[in-house]
Amino acid sequence: MKAEILKMLRESGDYVSGQQLCEQFGVSRTAVWKVISQLKEEGYEIEAVRNKGYRILNTPDVMTEQELKSLLAGRTKWAGQNIHYYKETDSTNLRAKQCGDADEPQGTLVVAEMQSAGRGRRGRSWESPSGENIYMTLLLRPDIEPSKAPMLTLVMAYSVAVGIRNTTGLDVQIKWPNDIVCGGKKLVGILTEMSTEIEYINHVIIGVGINVNLCEFPEEIRETASSLRLELGHTVRRAPLIAEILKVFEICYEQFLQKQDLTDIQEAYNELLVNRGREVRICGAKDSYRAQAVGIDEQGQLIVCKEDGTREAVYAGEVSVRGVYGYV
Ligand code: BTN
Repeated sequence: MKAEILKMLRESGDYVSGQQLCEQFGVSRTAVWKVISQLKEEGYEIEAVRNKGYRILNTPDVMTEQELKSLLAGRTKWAGQNIHYYKETDSTNLRAKQCGDADEPQGTLVVAEMQSAGRGRRGRSWESPSGENIYMTLLLRPDIEPSKAPMLTLVMAYSVAVGIRNTTGLDVQIKWPNDIVCGGKKLVGILTEMSTEIEYINHVIIGVGINVNLCEFPEEIRETASSLRLELGHTVRRAPLIAEILKVFEICYEQFLQKQDLTDIQEAYNELLVNRGREVRICGAKDSYRAQAVGIDEQGQLIVCKEDGTREAVYAGEVSVRGVYGYV
């Protein structure tokens, strides 16, 4: 009921009478009053005026289950409709994996204020200080061949980029395959993991770490990392950003499942691709070479044009791509 009351107050933007709330939820005035008191304790600024009712004045920057549910109700069918919120956890990817093994539904979202063992790609760790960033993982159960699952990371990268653009207006871009960057610095990292049998997928989990309001970075990533706040010059509320990302992702994911490739987002993804038309260095296990990035194909491979004019499709799992003069 808390999430629904929150949604009603937010959507009305004006006073909602106690009577209206009682009737809507079939509860007593005391029950409504108790929910309002809890919300106030959690930092929501709610004004109560005699003969008028309740009006929401300010929402704190929280990512609690009720805040997210109040923003997602009616906006997604399954993405984020089941939520686990942690003030602190080891890694949202580990928690989501447990949800997958425990048969929780597709779309289950694990979100945390802080991670004590945040995981990055290639065995690296992910800096996860408290209260300022987004650490979240989405659980999926796609009925596709395991070899197609890596494309889901690109679907998420695209959704996060669009979500950030829609909510903040910031001109972010994608560094193939799945980093989100702005001004040459990384804002978002994505780590996809899956549990499979030989021919089918049990579940896929996609973990997303977004530097939102963080201003101080550790020495070793100071040159290459940034946050939305640093780029925009103001703080950003995290829950509406999560809700927008999930809304975009749900649509793109369903399109992906229908065609089992990236045809529907290929063009838009390429428009956001920071590497497009740029000189890049393709680093494989044995050698590396320079080429010009052209864009992704419908399988999510990066098409590059080599110095001798031949084209090649490179696969994300096998190579990394760097700018010739730095990270991008
Ligand atoms: C990268 O190395 O670029 C990927 C970083 C992914 C970090 C996110 S934060 C939420 C989720 N939980 C984790 O432990 N990792 C991912």
